[in-house]
Amino acid sequence: MAKKNTATSGKSWQGRLTADLDAATAKLVASIDVDHVLWKYDIAGSLVHARMLQRQGVLTQRELASIRKGLLAVAGELEAGTLALPIELEDIHMVIEKALIERVGSVGGKLHTGRSRNDQVALDLRLWARDAVDRLAGLVGDLQRAFLGLARCQGEVVMPAYTHLQRAQPILAGAALLAYVEMLQRDVDRLADARKRINVCPLGSGAVAGTSLPLDRQFVAAELGFDDVTRNSIDATSDRDFLAELCFACSLLGVHLSRWAEDWIIYSTTEFGAVVLHDAYCTSSSMMPQKKNADTLELIRGKSATAIAQLTGLLTLLKGLPLAYNRDLQDDKRLTFACVDAVEQALGVACGIVSTARFNEPRIAATLEGGFLDATSLAEYITARGLPFRQAHHVVGRLVAQAEKQGKTLAELDLPTLRAACEQIGSDVYDYLGAANVVGRYRTEGAAGPEQLKRQMAFWEKKLG
Ligand code: ARG
Repeated sequence: MAKKNTATSGKSWQGRLTADLDAATAKLVASIDVDHVLWKYDIAGSLVHARMLQRQGVLTQRELASIRKGLLAVAGELEAGTLALPIELEDIHMVIEKALIERVGSVGGKLHTGRSRNDQVALDLRLWARDAVDRLAGLVGDLQRAFLGLARCQGEVVMPAYTHLQRAQPILAGAALLAYVEMLQRDVDRLADARKRINVCPLGSGAVAGTSLPLDRQFVAAELGFDDVTRNSIDATSDRDFLAELCFACSLLGVHLSRWAEDWIIYSTTEFGAVVLHDAYCTSSSMMPQKKNADTLELIRGKSATAIAQLTGLLTLLKGLPLAYNRDLQDDKRLTFACVDAVEQALGVACGIVSTARFNEPRIAATLEGGFLDATSLAEYITARGLPFRQAHHVVGRLVAQAEKQGKTLAELDLPTLRAACEQIGSDVYDYLGAANVVGRYRTEGAAGPEQLKRQMAFWEKKLG
């Protein structure tokens, strides 16, 4: 048995459906708990829609003036948080329309001329997504500048690079920091690219087929700062690709943040001790008094899971939908907002973590010569003296095994020992051994040495201002 929803409904379709909505149904169909955040965009769209209706002769000047006044009054209440948001009205679009009609009378009922909630919600979401993209791009830029700042102060620190999380070759810390800046730049570019497809105006598409009324879509689009109008009303009312793209851009950005967080979680352990985080970004333990935990980094790593989950949810929501608008789409907001929120929150903290962190140079230096970071350099030295690289690799492999057995570094092996392994080795070999020597010899474009770092730094200083 349907339970009666006793609240006053005040719905726009009371002509067709006469029964009060079943209470659980009222809850199910409502999205006001989530979509109320769209109110600013809804009002902005309505103000322009009303002006357009007046220009087209659908509204008189007086009608426009009273609708405008009413909308601004409703906006004031929404801003102040004094407007009730009853679930019986379903969503923010109905709440605003009802509040408008209460304020200005039946003329308020003219606002929805030539419009459906289907093109209205598509419009609001595009306006919201455009702002979200701009905010995210700004935050990513801040984070890039934080990495660049750290590279400026400590970029010259020589540290190990890892592959398979095993010591690989020595690098400058600045080069590792700029690796994150590169990833983040792709995120900025991806957001900018998504913005192109976000910034197209769907209003005037109506419920699905457009309208017989003389709307000026180009005027509305231009007034709202859109680059163009959508070409097809059926697609425009049901398209949420722009949200999926935004969620993907956020998810990959989240993945980048997560990779960096993982690096620094490892680097800040007692075992590594390479990065020191500021206390303001750490927490302790309720039981173990010595603890300084990098919880913020762990939460950032975790937030990417939320972002990816929402993206997956959105794609799943979209995948079986027939043309055109279907009510499933109402949940697009829940998913997209959560996705953007997760990444935005992570970004906000990431910037502070990076700008206050320091590399522990003495600690890095103390263990730098462990792990034979200069082995590849020695192989290249031998190769440059005529031995095929495969043989050089073999020679150095044997030398590493020998040094390891004696508890020595390659630079601690004496010349006769080195020459016994390979007669091409000369006394200048010691200029090629040791992490600092190795780093100084990198020559290829994009390498992790001082020459290349200088060039990369100059590029980013100019680009990021
Ligand atoms: N709250 C709905 C949404 O967010 C608005 C559109 C409802 N349209 C409809 N014809 N029932 O998608």
